[in-house]
Amino acid sequence: MCGVVGYVGPRDAVPVLLDGLTRLEYRGYDSAGVAVLNGRGVETRKLAGRIAALRGRVAQDPIHGTCGIGHTRWATHGAPTERNAHPHADCTAALALVHNGIIENADLLRAQLERAGHRFATETDTETLAHLIEAAAGDTLEERVIAALARVEGTYGLAVISDADPQKIVVARRGSPLLIGVGGGEYLVASDASAVLAHTRSVVYLDDGDVAVLTPEGYRVLDGDARPQERNVDDLDWDLETLALGSHPHFMLKEIFEQPEVVRQTLRGRLMGADGTARLNGLNLAAGQCARIRRIVIVACGTSWHAGLVGRSILEELTGIPVEVEYASEFRYRRPLRVQGTLTVAISQSGETADTLEAIRAARAAGSMVVGLVNVVGSSIAREADGGIYLHAGPEIGVASTKAFTSQIVALLLLGLHLGRRREQLDVKEGQRLVAALRALPDLVARTLELDPQVRELATRYADARNALYLGRGVNFPVALEGALKLKEISYIHAEGYPAAEMKHGPIALIDEDMPVVFIAPKDHVYTKVVSNMQEVRARGGRIIAITSEGNGDLRHLADHQLRVPACPPLLSPVLTVIPLQLLAYHIAVLRGCDVDRPRNLAKSVTVE
Ligand code: G6P
Repeated sequence: MCGVVGYVGPRDAVPVLLDGLTRLEYRGYDSAGVAVLNGRGVETRKLAGRIAALRGRVAQDPIHGTCGIGHTRWATHGAPTERNAHPHADCTAALALVHNGIIENADLLRAQLERAGHRFATETDTETLAHLIEAAAGDTLEERVIAALARVEGTYGLAVISDADPQKIVVARRGSPLLIGVGGGEYLVASDASAVLAHTRSVVYLDDGDVAVLTPEGYRVLDGDARPQERNVDDLDWDLETLALGSHPHFMLKEIFEQPEVVRQTLRGRLMGADGTARLNGLNLAAGQCARIRRIVIVACGTSWHAGLVGRSILEELTGIPVEVEYASEFRYRRPLRVQGTLTVAISQSGETADTLEAIRAARAAGSMVVGLVNVVGSSIAREADGGIYLHAGPEIGVASTKAFTSQIVALLLLGLHLGRRREQLDVKEGQRLVAALRALPDLVARTLELDPQVRELATRYADARNALYLGRGVNFPVALEGALKLKEISYIHAEGYPAAEMKHGPIALIDEDMPVVFIAPKDHVYTKVVSNMQEVRARGGRIIAITSEGNGDLRHLADHQLRVPACPPLLSPVLTVIPLQLLAYHIAVLRGCDVDRPRNLAKSVTVE
């Protein structure tokens, strides 16, 4: 949700911190701050607002130092004000601390600290940590951090500097991601690889329970008892260019247009034409384990949950295994069922969504195998799962997820193909047909994007809508949910997605000539049923936008607008039908003057429950 960055080395830390925060801004953007050790003590600049404003503040009132920390915030405790912005200080401002996560026993700790004479300046749970470290015993900052954290319940990814320990950053992780960037004679810490990529490709992913000490001489990783730990240095395979906007006005549009290449990347090296199957090396499921699967439970949140719903149709059809799709936040608090032969599939772009992470822990505790369909390499879910499929979609910066959704569906198709062939639910011929269809998909995605001018025109007609209804059936019902989610996330128009037939049980009451109704109706076995539902809307004067496919019947007599995606096998169709809906949401949001890449109140990666 929030972003943490830190730098220690020979350079002035402030520009490095501000650049890192700019890269992290997509994670949280209501307030921001930096603090450095300037040789005399800790100096801090912070404000309510964006990183650009923080740059302005620092330019007017500069601070300098070669060791510093920074933060961009998405408020949980306390309003997004300057006072509540990170870094936070102890009573004497001798230390500064930034923190992602939530301190669950903050109220209790605060009361104890106040009784002991500590004076709090903010309403945040984070400030408690600063005072706890101030009060803790220890000769070094790391000893005091370890002692303080022993009293803390909750989650954290934190970085702290202190004037008593110059040229040193101490960081700690529990439940909120942190990595160390290892440069030549300089070290960075960040909650997300994007903040270090401009400086180094070598990173150390910290584990929960790790405390690390960064100085210009090197870094050390310790456990909660200050015992040294060995951690691998990994290589980042992201390209710096993928983090830049290039010629696009917004990351969301850039990412929508990346989808042909993204689909290609998700498929790369995984399709086996002759055998009609998919090679999924990272899945770590032996043939015997595949054969023993009796039930699949998909856990996810947000857009990834919608991909999971598409996955239910895909996996049931290709593998014959019953599939349940659960909101991770609901699943984790239900009584866990021990069902022999359960495979839990976690779907997550970031690999850090707190509820999804806890859901896989609950599933594992109930005896399930766990695989992850994750985009961010080295993320918590990727590391905790028994195996998985990396999406290889590249970094997704726009808060509204687009390319991750299509790549998740492609990964689910690969999983279905792999399991279906292993379990002999699909024969070679059927497998080969699916492989061929998947190979053709990137070009079909590219052709679908050619609808953009038409969608842009359509957006001008509906930019003032106050509500919208999205209807689909079967494998395209989740696409209706996703289309509605995209519109409400970035344009703030109220939108609902419904199974088309279910409309008669309520939403039909809302239909009048001011209500745009988007139907997702490609050629499949429920097409004629969806057309009947269109008649019902037409009869009540609703405005119909039909997403249909080439070669399907003409819907002009029923629909006010018709957008045709290329024809493809029905199970693959969500990869195409969602694209005009992404574009529609995008163009409407732009016309309404909304901040497309940083919609209000949302966060890219929800690391608190
Ligand atoms: C947030 C994001 C969504 C995303 C959801 C799940 O709400 O804004 O775009 O779909 O989290 O995130 P994940 O990283 O687990 O896919």
